[in-house]
Formats: sequence, structure tokens, C-alpha cells
Amino acid sequence: MPDDRSPIRVAAIADVHCYNELRGRLRYELESVNEQADVLILAGDLTLYGQPDEARILAEEVRGIRIPMIGVLGNHDFEQEQERVIVRILEEAGVVMLDGGATTLDIRGRRVGFAGVKGFCGGFGDHLVAPFGELPLKAFVRVGQQEAEKLDAALRRIRDDAVDYVVAIVHYAPIRETVIGESPELFPFLGNSSLCDPIDRHEADVCFHGHAHYGSPVGRTPGGIPVYNVARPLVRTYVVHRLEPSRAVTPVRS
Ligand SMILES: [Fe+2]
Ligand SMILES: [Fe+2]
Repeated sequence: MPDDRSPIRVAAIADVHCYNELRGRLRYELESVNEQADVLILAGDLTLYGQPDEARILAEEVRGIRIPMIGVLGNHDFEQEQERVIVRILEEAGVVMLDGGATTLDIRGRRVGFAGVKGFCGGFGDHLVAPFGELPLKAFVRVGQQEAEKLDAALRRIRDDAVDYVVAIVHYAPIRETVIGESPELFPFLGNSSLCDPIDRHEADVCFHGHAHYGSPVGRTPGGIPVYNVARPLVRTYVVHRLEPSRAVTPVRS
């Protein structure tokens, strides 16, 4: 039995893009997580084409997972406009699905808060798209801002709850560094640095995202918070990170 000071192990994977061909394979890839981690994060693009049947396959694949599971949707999960059905299927399978929400777990005497949101496109830093000109462009920018506001509110809620650790979960990348490897022309569609501001403001301990299948596995926010791109095509299987008692986060396996 681990003592109270043992690190909390957070496993994360994104972009499993579940469909029929992955039956049995995801189960095989994920089954060891029960021993390897205390919680499993599923950071969006859980289905290939946003079909409820694909979510049902994923629900079967995670049936043997006994540790808590927390997820957000990705853009693929919206393709058929069946995202609410997908959320319900996954919640019935035991996954806590977040969309601007927060949840807290007690793990060996320590409280870990999780805030999750899908996020959106828009680009990064000085090249973040501006709300200027045509109405459709302003609407596009507004969606990204709203996602950042949802994440801000969720992070504030768990910080107010006096947790020991804060974990941020998004699908789109909050920093440019973890999309490097993709074509630069795609960068504005891979993430939005507005997501990064609340992560820094509320001093999250770590952030996980996906979406950039050919990006880079690790980066940091301007405030120094570690950000991990856990897209399955990039990392191949779940990644486990340790939340150390000292609050330092050390990657142990990828
Ligand atoms: Fe994806
Ligand atoms: Fe995606």
C-alpha cells in the first residue's frame, strides 16, 4: 500500500479515435493502466467520426478500467452533431465528462482537482487571430474566447476548493510548442493560446491536450507549467506523469 507521500500518477491519452477496427486493441493498450496510474484522462477525439456507435465501442474498451476516468470531447466527436449522446454513453461507462466543468478526487489523502474543456482553434501568441472585420471571423474568434472563459471559471472553482493539485484538460493545444512538427500552415487550427492564460493564472500543476497528432510531446506555458500533448498517434499509448509531494511534476513513462 503506497504511503501518503507517494506521487499521484496521472495517466493521459487523447485522440484514440475509436472505431470498429480498434475493438480489443484499445482494451489491450489500456488494461495496464489500473496498476500504472491513479486516474486516467481521455483528452478528446474519442471517436473517429462522432458516431454514437464508436463511443459505444470505446465504452466497451474501457469497461475493465477500475481507476477513475475523466474526459473532454474533441472536434471529431462533434462531426455528427451527436456530442450529447456521446457524452451520455461515456458517462454511463463511468467517464466523468467535462465541458467547462470541474471535478475533484481524493487520492491517498490528497485532493486533486480537474478542470476540462474542449478548447478551439485560433492560433498562438502574437499570431492569435483577432476579432476584426467580417462577422463570421468575429464569431470564430468568440468561440475560442468562450472556451478559454469556461476553463478559467472551472479552474477558479477548484482553486477556491483548496485542492492540493490542479490538472487542466483540453483537446486543442494551449501552447505553440507542442504543435511543432505539424505543418506551420495548420498551427492556427491546432490550438489557441487564450487557453494558456487561465492555466497560468490559476497555477495549474500540469496540462494535457491532444489534437496535434504530429506535434511534440512536451512543452511549457509562459508561466513554466508543463504541457503534454498526449495524442495517441504521437505517444502511441497512455503517458503517466507523477504529481510529486513537492508539487514538481516528473514524466515517468511515455
Ligand atoms: Fe485527433
Ligand atoms: Fe482533434
